[in-house]
Amino acid sequence: RNRALWGGRFATETNDLVTKLSESVSYDQRLYKHDILQSKAHVRMLAKQGLVSKDDADKCVAGLDQLCAQIENGSFGQFDVKLEDIHMNIESRLTRQIGEPGAKLHTARSRNDQVATDLRLYLRDEIQLLIALARSLQSALVILAERNAEVVMPGFTHLQHAQPVVLGHYFLAYCEMFDRDAGRLSDTLNRLDFCPLGSGAMATTTLPIDRFFTSEQLGFRHGPCRNSMDAVSDRDFALELLATISISMMHVSRISEDLIFWMSQEAGWIELGDAFCTGSSLMPQKKNPDVCELARGKTGRVYGNLLAALTMMKGLPLCYNRDMQEDKERLFDSIDTYKALLQVFREMLLTLKPHRDRMLTAASDPFLMATDLAEWLVRNGVPFREAHHRIGALVGECTRTGRRLNELTLAEMQRIVPEATAACLELFDPVRSVQARNVFGGPAPEQVRNQVQFWKKQVWFV
Ligand code: ARG
Repeated sequence: RNRALWGGRFATETNDLVTKLSESVSYDQRLYKHDILQSKAHVRMLAKQGLVSKDDADKCVAGLDQLCAQIENGSFGQFDVKLEDIHMNIESRLTRQIGEPGAKLHTARSRNDQVATDLRLYLRDEIQLLIALARSLQSALVILAERNAEVVMPGFTHLQHAQPVVLGHYFLAYCEMFDRDAGRLSDTLNRLDFCPLGSGAMATTTLPIDRFFTSEQLGFRHGPCRNSMDAVSDRDFALELLATISISMMHVSRISEDLIFWMSQEAGWIELGDAFCTGSSLMPQKKNPDVCELARGKTGRVYGNLLAALTMMKGLPLCYNRDMQEDKERLFDSIDTYKALLQVFREMLLTLKPHRDRMLTAASDPFLMATDLAEWLVRNGVPFREAHHRIGALVGECTRTGRRLNELTLAEMQRIVPEATAACLELFDPVRSVQARNVFGGPAPEQVRNQVQFWKKQVWFV
């Protein structure tokens, strides 16, 4: 006896190797709640349209609720791989438990519109959670920015010391990035908020269904998908989410790279809480930033998920193809990975302690204030290009004679920069330098505190 729900036209049972290859219930079982939600809305619609009796619909709804409870309390037992996926496991168990009414549930529905609907319902919930987690990481960054609004450190370009900034300014840069990421997540959510249910296998149905009713019951913001062929073929929303997560993981990976360097003995600028670092099984002295390294490493795997899904989709003829079953593991993996990292990063960052003295020492190299000197000349009437050139010559002189800018006497400085006065010798203090960059969006503590206030007024700030 062929046990598959679609087995009518088949003379022999499915080969065991095929069953193993094609089953998805081992991973798509996580859609159970959304599958049941959908089935309840669907069968209520069937009753409203007179396609099943009110009594049958009530039995289905009660049976589905019972299955949901059984899955959650563990009494459902094993899912059956011969039933392929979560959809057929639930439908078949329902029919076993309530009899004939269960056999009416799949009226005017295909697994093609069913899986597309389940996935959108599931992702709606997950994306809302991801947005909340991104927001909560942002609020940790704002807290850190406030704590470190005066902590002066070198800013880099090309991994070369550039100009002094404060550590708070650095954290607010990431607050901006995660803000855009949260925005991309909510755009993704908005675009996927259409209901595919009722599209059937690809061409809807001859039965008089009401797609607006089911869409409304399931809370889809924009109503039913307008084109049944598109509705069962479209995985743009999955790709968009994978891309959005990839971009955000790129941010997680970049901050990781900085933290790893800052924790190195070469920099020695920060301490991360012991609870967020790991030791060595051989070298007793080690304290390693493994969380950051894992974040950097896992970013590669999240990119891989995006590329796998894009490649899986690119050659598919309309409409549904079984290839598309491969979307789920990629999605689930990226969501799980991203979720875990957003959570751990928030907690880990809150343990970050800067070594202010070491950061300040690094920022005190007077070469970092060379631009300040050029800008002083600008304020005294020298065209910027000319000022840049002359300070460059001064720096060249210093490097040739093995001295620092602040070790030159005024007379020596005046040989190359005749306009220089005693005021120039006071420009080499990194604290003053950073305070002087008091421009909107700049690193001056006052600006950083203003930005902190801006972020604290956002509704999500906790
Ligand atoms: N498990 C399938 C998937 O995830 C559901 C749709 C199957 N449809 C079909 N005609 N085989 O894509």
